[in-house]
Amino acid sequence: MCGIFGMIRQSPFSSNELLQGLKRLEYRGYDSFGFASNTGELTKHIGSISDFIDKINQSEATTGISHTRWATHGGVTLQNSHPHSDCNERFFVVHNGIIENYEELKNELLSRGHVFKSQTDTEVIPHFIEEHVKSGLSIEDAIKMFIKISKGTFAVLLMEKNKNIIYAMKRDSPLVLGLMKDGFAIASDIYAFSNITNRVIFFDDNEYAIINQNDFGIYDSYGKQIKKDFMTFSWNKEENLGNYEHYMIKEIIEEPVAIERLINSLNNEQHDTVEKISSLIKIRKVLFVACGTAYHASLLGTSFLRFAGINADAVIASEYQNYMADKNTCVIAVSQSGETMDVIKALQAARASSAVICSIVNVPHSTIERMSSLSINIKAGQEICVASTKVFTGQAAAILYLSGAKIVTLQKLLDSVIKQKDVIKKISEDLCKARDIYVLGKSEGYALAREIALKIKEISYIHAEGMMAGELKHGTIALIEPGVPVISIIFNNNEDMISSTKETEARGADIFAITNKPYPGKWNFVIDSEDKKLFFIAAGTVGQLIAYYTAKALGRPIDKPRNLAKSVTVK
Ligand code: G6P
Repeated sequence: MCGIFGMIRQSPFSSNELLQGLKRLEYRGYDSFGFASNTGELTKHIGSISDFIDKINQSEATTGISHTRWATHGGVTLQNSHPHSDCNERFFVVHNGIIENYEELKNELLSRGHVFKSQTDTEVIPHFIEEHVKSGLSIEDAIKMFIKISKGTFAVLLMEKNKNIIYAMKRDSPLVLGLMKDGFAIASDIYAFSNITNRVIFFDDNEYAIINQNDFGIYDSYGKQIKKDFMTFSWNKEENLGNYEHYMIKEIIEEPVAIERLINSLNNEQHDTVEKISSLIKIRKVLFVACGTAYHASLLGTSFLRFAGINADAVIASEYQNYMADKNTCVIAVSQSGETMDVIKALQAARASSAVICSIVNVPHSTIERMSSLSINIKAGQEICVASTKVFTGQAAAILYLSGAKIVTLQKLLDSVIKQKDVIKKISEDLCKARDIYVLGKSEGYALAREIALKIKEISYIHAEGMMAGELKHGTIALIEPGVPVISIIFNNNEDMISSTKETEARGADIFAITNKPYPGKWNFVIDSEDKKLFFIAAGTVGQLIAYYTAKALGRPIDKPRNLAKSVTVK
């Protein structure tokens, strides 16, 4: 799962220009990066582009391809970094996706004498092209052959040394072509070049393209040229860190404003879409599909919808195969990026079973938005920190709005939570010493318990478990020892929550309550709300601040945690 970016232009551009575009895709992975150009330059580095961009030797070229990597096949090494090449270093390839039958293809190529330098699945592509060109095919025919016999997902850019041509091909992984004044940009998503052009063409599956400095052609897998028109898109303003230390805290602090923007938009420009989805979900079963934080927003959303009498369930997208959707199901994909491969695969399956597809996304023009009959945009603006915060809050609020509930006071409630962030900072200085943290919730609170535990894990690297409070006594309570922190989410002195919390306290746990009525534990954070649904959304913000300050106290790389990526575009 990676980002790819290429440019081909009539006048030379610098490697810095190429890398500036690639840097905008860094949220897709930051294990290593690299680029190749028509002048023969091939540069690779371990680590993120941001750390190197000012140190790279500047060179000029008219064609270049580049790649930022999140390792799947093969460790984080220079050899495994893209671009990859064939035996004679004639073809250079960058790839996002996974070639599922690469071992079979590799064995075949090895038996024909090809020598591989990496452990990646990607390296089969340049060798495959080399082999078939050697046997007399044109590069274009070799590409068609690859599309035919390869299995798996790919967005690929291929260039030939000293030539001003980029070949591109796509299946499942996103790929978009941008029109520039003096040439073309091509990338995993429009964000890579949204500062340069807003005229784009999205590729469909099994298409390939041949792009030169003046022109381009897009073809289906049989080589038939396809006529596609450029579309224009609008993009929100770009974010920068300003005076904040991390994007994460900036994005948490932006939540009240983002919620105000969302409510305005749902009441006005998105009103029709909301009405249409609301009518659909009244007569169909709702099945949310999502991953990670978006799944937790969906889980919270199922409680909101059920409370409004709507039959709703949520499934982790990679487990979708265990669910049965049909024409009476409204599948709602919830995704910040709109590009998560597990969600896309689930939607393809849902579409095949005639379910109605809707979505709630943050990134406009994303694949998931384009796959949906109806899509709500949560208008949170660009979210840069890998761990999702303001988007989680927006997703939960959008689902609550769909349920018909009033959310006008949410903005004020979030404001009041954020104003007390120093209280959370203080307690996090204590929490950061823990080896394990348990987070307990019930009903809506269970979704929050899972989300708060995830936030703590992903950015502080402390082991945290989010649990149904009532289930604790059936096993996990064996792990409670004196001094173990338990974060308990208690609304209106819920008796079941209090019993479960007491059971841990009896074994020496230190209780950190997120509540609306003070609980006599080691520490309380009181959210001033009698509205149960808004309370739980605000509890998410409290959890985000706990995770942030805990990770900060530990000196973690908060915005780019190890091993993670913001958009996971592989299965
Ligand atoms: C990755 C990110 C998570 C995110 C999840 C789903 O795992 O690290 O923060 O929640 O993907 O992403 P999506 O873009 O579909 O919301």
